[in-house]
Amino acid sequence: MIAAFAGEQMEKRIAVLPGDGIGVDVTREARKVLDAASRAGSFRLHLEEMDYGAERYLRTGETLPAKVLLGFREYDSVFMGAFGDPRVPDMKHAADILLGTRFGLDLYANVRPVRCLSDRLCPLRNYAAKDVDFVVFRENTEGLYVGMGGNFKKDTPDEVAIQEDVNTRKGVERIIRYAFEYAAKNGRKKVTMSDKSNALRFGHDLWQRVFWSVAPEFKEIEANHLYVDALTMQMVKDPRQFQVIVTCNMFGDIVTDLGAQLQGGLGMAASGNIHPGGASMFEPVHGSAPKYAGKDVANPLGAILTAAMMLDHLGLHEPARWIEGAVAECIESRECTADVGGHLGTAATGDAVARRVLAH
Ligand SMILES: NC(=O)c1ccc[n+]([C@@H]2O[C@H](COP(=O)([O-])OP(=O)(O)OC[C@H]3O[C@@H](n4cnc5c(N)ncnc54)[C@H](O)[C@@H]3O)[C@@H](O)[C@H]2O)c1
Repeated sequence: MIAAFAGEQMEKRIAVLPGDGIGVDVTREARKVLDAASRAGSFRLHLEEMDYGAERYLRTGETLPAKVLLGFREYDSVFMGAFGDPRVPDMKHAADILLGTRFGLDLYANVRPVRCLSDRLCPLRNYAAKDVDFVVFRENTEGLYVGMGGNFKKDTPDEVAIQEDVNTRKGVERIIRYAFEYAAKNGRKKVTMSDKSNALRFGHDLWQRVFWSVAPEFKEIEANHLYVDALTMQMVKDPRQFQVIVTCNMFGDIVTDLGAQLQGGLGMAASGNIHPGGASMFEPVHGSAPKYAGKDVANPLGAILTAAMMLDHLGLHEPARWIEGAVAECIESRECTADVGGHLGTAATGDAVARRVLAH
């Protein structure tokens, strides 16, 4: 890590993996905006690009070498685009790179802000942008995504497929506590935990017991519970009731796609994969959308907002606000891609944000 000393310019070293498909297109624009922010501010970013992804996997058989994964700890942060390529139908490289990084660096908090930046993007009748402003904390290292299970009598009519759902007290407690701590630090007054404990009587009963044992430590914050089916309904019915949501890995994955739609679509959604105190990884919520790859149509704003989130996490709060402000202005003036009502391509949208950041 490159240290920052009082009176000296702050420096940060970031590993950048654009990945596949539109991951490459949007990461280019996020880099452009990060460069503009560092020129406008008094900090330096060393962005070191790595080409791990489908292309390299198909060429060399390499996904993410253990040495590279361990080496991420030496960086201040990791930024990723998206992974997924039709030429790799089993997603081997994507699983190794994305899940490998999340599990390998123990990035247990997947933080996904759901914030609508313009009334024009709010899809709900009778609601405005200001009514959609909450943060989802998705448990990122356990649950149904640990890959434990197997098949019996595979490819026969008697096949049995078992997928284990792993919930540990340590894992559940740390994400719930992190969500409450975030609420306390950021002036949020309510935390909603969502599970399916009425049906999942063991794993999600643990979520219930842990949530109600941690909640009393945060007396100033209202603790609230909704089953996940009710949560999805309420997110559409009245999003104003949510400030912080904490949930398991799979439910967090699903409800944040719904959340993305409340903020203008997948192209607008940002996320961070965080291990408090350790190197963390930031990536837009969307995937590699192969049909749009290289066509200058993908919306780079989710990736750009992800870059702002990363700067905020690194203590560069002001530059993060410049970027968020510039994105909101671009949306307002329709200097953005067609999916959010604009008339620009991917690169010109990145230019428009970077110009505003430089002139902040
Ligand atoms: N974190 C990741 O890297 C990640 C996440 C989800 C999916 N994937 C992978 O990506 C590939 C494609 O998956 P998918 O089609 O289900 O999801 P996707 O997010 O790539 O795309 C779904 C649809 O959302 C829209 N969209 C997404 N991002 C956009 C953007 N930046 N600008 C404009 N429109 C955008 C497009 O209409 C697109 O067809 C698959 O291989 C999948 O496994 C990767």
